[in-house]
Amino acid sequence: MSDNFIQFHRAWIGDEEEQEVLAALRSGWLTTGERTRKFEAEFARYAGARYAVGLNSCTAGLFLSLKAFGIGKGDEVITTPMTFAATANVILHAGAKPVFVDINPDDLNINTAKIEEAVTPGTRAVMPVHFRGVPCNMDVILSIAEKHNLIVIEDAAHAIESVYKNRKTGSIGNTTCFSFYPNKNITTGEGGMVTTDNEGIASKIRILSNHGLSRDALMRYMPSGQPLYEVLEPGYKFNMFDLQAALGLHQLSKIETFWKRRRQITHKYNTAFEKLPHFTVPADVNEGKNAYHLYVLLLNRDTLGIDRDQLLTELKKAGIGSSVHFKALHLHKYYRETFGLVPEDFPVATDVSGRIFSLPLYPRLTDEEVERVISTVMKILQKHAK
Ligand SMILES: Cc1ncc(COP(=O)(O)O)c(C=O)c1O
Repeated sequence: MSDNFIQFHRAWIGDEEEQEVLAALRSGWLTTGERTRKFEAEFARYAGARYAVGLNSCTAGLFLSLKAFGIGKGDEVITTPMTFAATANVILHAGAKPVFVDINPDDLNINTAKIEEAVTPGTRAVMPVHFRGVPCNMDVILSIAEKHNLIVIEDAAHAIESVYKNRKTGSIGNTTCFSFYPNKNITTGEGGMVTTDNEGIASKIRILSNHGLSRDALMRYMPSGQPLYEVLEPGYKFNMFDLQAALGLHQLSKIETFWKRRRQITHKYNTAFEKLPHFTVPADVNEGKNAYHLYVLLLNRDTLGIDRDQLLTELKKAGIGSSVHFKALHLHKYYRETFGLVPEDFPVATDVSGRIFSLPLYPRLTDEEVERVISTVMKILQKHAK
């Protein structure tokens, strides 16, 4: 890759992370151990939850949340089509059916006014996704959940720092699932965390993440441990390990610094783009806190002689990485063919899917790089404005 290419994302790993990973390597304890326990405790405190369970991904957290609540065959789970494949894939892996509800045109989150129409006797859970880091309307979701006795499993892959009104993401739904994938707000390389206030659910998720064993490695091999264990049920292999936690501990301590820089970059982009007729900037948070995970724009096609895909190709040629979050799930082959879905089923998500794109947003971006992204976009717009 040319030195001049501004990548869509680069993680920021400092000396502290490097030293902690080295110390973990040298300790000889590489699997789930004391560093993982410490990271879980610090993350639980940060999220305002009683319990946090470290896992190898957010995907595992979403799946194990469904399993822990016994959601499976014959059940339906309501979610948004404007999300990553993992959100709906895990519903299928659990044996249940994903039921999509269209999104709001302003903040692009699930349209809570339409959730109740999608509730059937088979509905067991709602899985809201706080897209970009903007919290969903949780008051409405919680009141529908209470009325119809539904579990709320939050996909907070984008929303580590988010606050809904005065409630921290991670302290609201029955479980909340976070991602530490390399492009996320903090990273452990790969990794995830589930938070909950329910002790039984936390314990079930922990056991399921480690083959369904009654004792994990720490409980078996430490001096105070017991070597024998029982297989309580056939579980999975989804545990976080100490090298990931070594990264996570120091990433978590920098979370506010990273967030402030992403907010600053967001403001610079907004100043440049929000008054242009060519783009629509999706709504920000009114009350609470945006995690500023993605910088997303919607291209207004009638003002330009090029479409979104041509714009991204021109950006790439000019040395700027970009991405698409997301092409809505009902437009993908598997979901189209399996559930007979058509673009008209979710018109807002369909329209947004063809116009949305994401620009680089991460703390390692320099001011010069941010200026280059802006001036490159401006040049392309000038060339193609109608
Ligand atoms: C909305 C959403 N949910 C879930 C995930 C899955 O996260 P992970 O890669 O940690 O499993 C992602 C990952 O990008 C995501 O964007």
